[in-house]
Amino acid sequence: MSALDTAGTYRLGDRTVRRIGYGAMQLAGPNAFGPPRDRSAALGGLRAAIASGVDHIDTSDYYGPHITNELIREALHPYPADLMLVTKVGAKRGVDGSWNPAASADELRGAVHHNLRRLGLETLELVNFRLMLDESLPAEGSVEEPLAVLDALRQEGLIRNIGISNATPAQVREARRLIEIACVQNKFNLAHRGDEALIAELAADGIAYVPFYPLSGFSDQQTAVLDEIAAGLGATPMQVALAWLLQHSPNILLIPGTSSIAHLKQNLAVAGFVLPAEAVALLDGIATG
Ligand SMILES: NC(=O)c1ccc[n+]([C@@H]2O[C@H](COP(=O)([O-])OP(=O)(O)OC[C@H]3O[C@@H](n4cnc5c(N)ncnc54)[C@H](OP(=O)(O)O)[C@@H]3O)[C@@H](O)[C@H]2O)c1
Repeated sequence: MSALDTAGTYRLGDRTVRRIGYGAMQLAGPNAFGPPRDRSAALGGLRAAIASGVDHIDTSDYYGPHITNELIREALHPYPADLMLVTKVGAKRGVDGSWNPAASADELRGAVHHNLRRLGLETLELVNFRLMLDESLPAEGSVEEPLAVLDALRQEGLIRNIGISNATPAQVREARRLIEIACVQNKFNLAHRGDEALIAELAADGIAYVPFYPLSGFSDQQTAVLDEIAAGLGATPMQVALAWLLQHSPNILLIPGTSSIAHLKQNLAVAGFVLPAEAVALLDGIATG
């Protein structure tokens, strides 16, 4: 049995949120581009999330683009006082749906203003600077300039908290030397565990780690292990994958993405699950990297 409180809360910047939130990316069309197939279902999913106690939603104005933020505003504005709406800047979409860097000072300022306007807010609770990890911003490049832009916006009162996403451990450390970092949002799941040491480092200082793709990229062999454990526990394989993350470290906050209310409810029901030690040991052993 794990000693971790999987049903609990954790600090996210200057707020405290439940450990299971909601990732809104899947609400736009395929590849987070264009409108949803069923607009009223997307609005209903957001309202169901809030009605079920979600107090942390992850979004960006480049999902759609603009569409996810517009849906959030239409479904939820005026927002519940305890809702932590987290957005990201640093990317823009091409007309073909491609994902491109947008990290100049003008682009970052513009993105913050677009998020404010589309979400109908005067201040953004938390903005992640999302690195694109390409030629224009190499993997180990400095994050000083973009973070200085966001920090200036924070001092102007347009942002309350700043996080970083898609960053290497060295970039996270540089960011933390420069400004207060509220969270790190990187890819991490059962199969993909490159950030293991970084997560522990952040946990020691009480900083949230928010894995994206918590349910994506499992091999057939990993899926078979998940299926077997889930069958034995009367849970679904995706619930087991989320429960493993919650038990892995106390600073992990989940933002599973779904366009399905049934899946949303299954994901939220993971709060309070405790995986038996044998299941955790099996899952600990199936990483690919
Ligand atoms: N910072 C970044 O660079 C970055 C990158 C990617 C994503 N994100 C954020 O992270 C969030 C999560 O990532 P993601 O949505 O791409 O990936 P994900 O959470 O790993 O997986 C989403 C997929 O899992 C399915 N799913 C969700 N719950 C399920 C359940 N209980 N049972 C079965 N299938 C389930 C969804 O399909 P259904 O719709 O059918 O449920 C969807 O296809 C996003 O919403 C976004 O906010 C950030």
